[in-house]
Amino acid sequence: MKGIRLDKYLAQAGLGSRTQVKELLKKGKVTVNGQEVRRPEEKVIPGEDTVCCGEETVGHQEHRYYLLNKPAGLVSATEDSRERTVLELFPQGLRRGIFPVGRLDKDTVGLLLLTDDGELAHRLLSPRKHVEKVYEALVDGQMNQEDQRAFAQGLDIGDDTPTRPARLELCQVGEQSLVRITLTEGRYHQVKRMCQTVGKPVIKLKRLSMGSLKLDDSLREGEYRPLTEEEIGRLKEC
Ligand code: URA
Repeated sequence: MKGIRLDKYLAQAGLGSRTQVKELLKKGKVTVNGQEVRRPEEKVIPGEDTVCCGEETVGHQEHRYYLLNKPAGLVSATEDSRERTVLELFPQGLRRGIFPVGRLDKDTVGLLLLTDDGELAHRLLSPRKHVEKVYEALVDGQMNQEDQRAFAQGLDIGDDTPTRPARLELCQVGEQSLVRITLTEGRYHQVKRMCQTVGKPVIKLKRLSMGSLKLDDSLREGEYRPLTEEEIGRLKEC
């Protein structure tokens, strides 16, 4: 069976642009079947050879997947005539073909998946799949059990149909409240509109998870990393 170049294999797995993965190779970080390999043109056979970068096994991926901790101030788009986009956080060499899976508002922070895998994106966003999305919100006002019941029943937020049942967890209650909200749909400004409907406008909003994919503490706002093989595998099970 014919192999593919090691630098291409590593770049396809999301480890960086061709230039960046050549740097990894130069630094001696990559092994193939336990042997350190520094030559980018070395051929590997996907599914047969075991490629590792440091401690991590690097599986062969046809597509690229990145977890971004989105900062405020950028729009979730690939291009925009006026605003800065999340793509600008990625070096030029990595931008080609990737797009954000769904949207977060410009002032929302947290988990955003970027990929060039249109099929997975389509499934994650499909209204029929009811993929869970968890948000942490700081709201103005005391969230209470009545709000929990209203979220659980579904709210009229001015659309044709009420929202699907959502979970509202009260983390800290006071003049301002910190809550966790789990949605299984993704309407425009949904969290903000739901909180506004119960009279407690959102002050800050952060997405913590989407399906099986969770934001981790390793990423500060504005930072991204490739998904691990395990994370990709679990997402594809959705
Ligand atoms: N709901 C909102 O209101 N805004 C977001 O960015 C995401 C969900």
